[in-house]
Amino acid sequence: MSDLNVYELLNRKRRGGPLEPREIEAFVDRYTTGSIPDYQMSALLMAIAINGMTAEEMATLTQAMLRSGEQWHLRDQYDFVADKHSTGGVGDKVSLVLSPWVGACGVKIGMLSGRGLGHTGGTLDKLEAIPRFNARLSRDQFQRCIDEVNCVISTSTEGIAPADKKIYALRDVTGTVESLPLITASIMSKKLAMGASSLILDVKTGSGAFMRHYQESKALALSLIAAAAGSGTRVEALITDMNRPLGIAAGNANEIVETIEVLKGNGPADVEEVTRAQAVRVLVMSGRFDEQSAVTALDDALRSGRALDQARKWITSQGGDAKIADDYSLLPQPTETFEVRAPRSGFITAIDTYQAGMFTVDLGAGRKKADDIIDYAAGVMFDRRSGDEVKAGETIARIQLGHSKRDAEELRKRFLSFVTFGDAPPPGRPLVFEHLK
Ligand code: URA
Repeated sequence: MSDLNVYELLNRKRRGGPLEPREIEAFVDRYTTGSIPDYQMSALLMAIAINGMTAEEMATLTQAMLRSGEQWHLRDQYDFVADKHSTGGVGDKVSLVLSPWVGACGVKIGMLSGRGLGHTGGTLDKLEAIPRFNARLSRDQFQRCIDEVNCVISTSTEGIAPADKKIYALRDVTGTVESLPLITASIMSKKLAMGASSLILDVKTGSGAFMRHYQESKALALSLIAAAAGSGTRVEALITDMNRPLGIAAGNANEIVETIEVLKGNGPADVEEVTRAQAVRVLVMSGRFDEQSAVTALDDALRSGRALDQARKWITSQGGDAKIADDYSLLPQPTETFEVRAPRSGFITAIDTYQAGMFTVDLGAGRKKADDIIDYAAGVMFDRRSGDEVKAGETIARIQLGHSKRDAEELRKRFLSFVTFGDAPPPGRPLVFEHLK
């Protein structure tokens, strides 16, 4: 498009006027190749963040961002290959459990995953707690893992949606991360570029989610599903609870241990339930199972030890030391552990999950700046959780330190500042709220 009038377009969007598909395409294309500068893209992002986008504008933006780079079209190379995405949470190790569990049922699954963002942990950071695990695969290596062991998780390669990499970095510093159309285009441009047969979205809701309120989470889920219309990737979403950390462990190495425990059939019930709900959808979307036979296949894979065995094969295929499944001491170990005790008897009525996530990040388990180095041994074990009855003096959590020295009393005080106690249990909340497609 030779006649793109950037100044007029920005003015129009600022006033809430419509953008033509070819204008959006040209804007993204020129920004990616460097002929539109950061300050003009920043202005457009702010106008979008304030005024929103129509469904058509958002679909065009998603397509323009995905076409800025490689498209893998994986669904053309396999009978079926699944993908999964989580909007992020605290203690969210669902992808780690789901991959080998689904793989053990004979269904291929590949994910281009992310690192920790804000208060939430990152799947790749957790995997890199495993000695020698390679989470930076080339496209060929990625596909070899799918071919050989059915499952793979790796970082997005440079070639996937370069427009998103540039735009995301700009959003991060211009206060435009929290925008439904921008989040939708960012997530879906990367997911659709991989081109799986199906995508299951785990859209979190609650105090530890990016979308805290139910209606916002639902709007995001519907927006992500709408952005995939006509793409060839079948998308479904589950809205799941993030008003409490998922499982007991939040960190990196400790979440790998918890993942293996779930695969051994000894893990926390909430992690198993949330993962199972998604795994059932993955198997059903493959067309080889109905709901009942999916549940049976998943039960069988877990009880027989095949899911655990699949995890060993997967870790080995990405260069990692699979012996960690039998010897947790091979994972990074905490140098010190501080216990937190209940200050009173009663019930834990709430854990502010955003604060719990920030606490875990501050221990070194996440990054506050892009170049921070992860302390894989650092983390928190939530031994008692929302709804649990506790006695005064009983251990409710363990704070695990890695390399850094910390003041135990200060950490205990901060931990207790985001935990609420009461005389009665809080009202029950489901773990899985809604299934959307
Ligand atoms: N994750 C992404 O990939 N992009 C966003 O905009 C938000 C979360």
